[in-house]
Amino acid sequence: MVKIGIDKIGFHIPHYYVDMNDLAVARNVEPAKFTIGIGQDEMAVASITQDPVTLAANAALNILDEEDIQAIDFVMFGTETGIDHSKSAGVYVHRLLGLQPNARTIEMKQACYGATAALQLAKGHIALNPESKVLVLASDIARYGLNTAGEVTQGAGAVAMLISANPKIMTIENDSTFLTDDIMDFWRPTYSDIAYVDGKYSNEQYLAFVKHVWDKYKEETNLSLDDFTAICFHLPYTKMGVKALRTLLDEGNEATQERLQTNFDESIQYSRKVGNIYTASLYLGLISLLERKELEAGERIGLFSYGSGAVGEFFTGIIQENYRDHLNDHYHETLFSNRTRLSVEEYEEVFSAKLPTDGSTVTLNTENDPAPIYLSGITEHMRQYENKKL
Ligand code: CAA
Repeated sequence: MVKIGIDKIGFHIPHYYVDMNDLAVARNVEPAKFTIGIGQDEMAVASITQDPVTLAANAALNILDEEDIQAIDFVMFGTETGIDHSKSAGVYVHRLLGLQPNARTIEMKQACYGATAALQLAKGHIALNPESKVLVLASDIARYGLNTAGEVTQGAGAVAMLISANPKIMTIENDSTFLTDDIMDFWRPTYSDIAYVDGKYSNEQYLAFVKHVWDKYKEETNLSLDDFTAICFHLPYTKMGVKALRTLLDEGNEATQERLQTNFDESIQYSRKVGNIYTASLYLGLISLLERKELEAGERIGLFSYGSGAVGEFFTGIIQENYRDHLNDHYHETLFSNRTRLSVEEYEEVFSAKLPTDGSTVTLNTENDPAPIYLSGITEHMRQYENKKL
């Protein structure tokens, strides 16, 4: 049977961030609550010239070559920050990247789970069409509002993955377990640009989903914790992942516990500096692990995906030979080191900027945006995007 999985993977983040110590001081909170209790050091902030479309397009731009651009026949865009109730965000990305026209393009929504659904559907598509390459995008801007309990768990960014047969980075195994339950832990009505959340309940449900899908996975596969090199979790904030790992760790022997803990610590490093990027958070954790660790070919990685509302899934991947040769770690390092630290006042101003909703024309100042793809304005309700490289 043909092996299918992640052939290329990369991320993009906005060029602004806020330091969590600064935010804590401004909010009259002990900084350790944010950096230890929540587990976040910095939070990415999107300028008005970056939206979910541009973040995703920038993420994809850095992993694709001309051959991929001709081979991609399916674009799936996972997001819960859609900019249009009708048109898929992926269609804009398709044009901005110059992908060949004979492709399907859709948007997928189930809170932070959308990209995992896309990944699994991509796998099915490639099983039927082994020559195909599928572009899976995960892109979000997490917004709870200024001075809210969720503020410290905001963030912005995108991950792009090229899914193919005989992938160079990680194959996705066939076993996976999933669960749907109609709950109101976190949601965003179509009239709101900030999320509503029952914080404590969402934490409890996240952990209940971890337990359910993990127990089912063990039952169905006869595998145990000792069969895993690492487990990556959806990271709404890194402390949530810490709690999730804790619920499983006792099941492993001493070596397993140590291995999983060490590798988990590597998997949360990028998220500590970015914050929650909803659909992309799990995959940012995977990139952090892949880039910061020397993993061996054949090692098994567990992945827990959670989208409030809620759908959860546990699935697994197998590391491929020489996977490190196909990562973009130097580029990602540059993204982090080139960011500008905003004061809390500056962050509040950037956060509060809005595009007009009355059909008027606005041309944005894009001079300070270093990203190749950006939003240059809006006219008659149509967002205007540009790619400096096309
Ligand atoms: N030093 C160290 N730690 C401190 C501290 C200090 N001075 N002060 C407090 N803490 C600790 C607390 O003990 C607590 O730790 P534990 O959870 O281990 O007990 C932690 O800091 C957080 O404190 P609180 O529970 O008091 O925090 P809060 O009520 O202000 O809100 C939150 C936390 C509920 C996560 C809130 O930020 C929120 O609502 N976030 C959005 C919802 C969310 O992310 N939910 C996650 C699951 S849902 C999901 O995963 C989908 C998704 O992406 C949204």
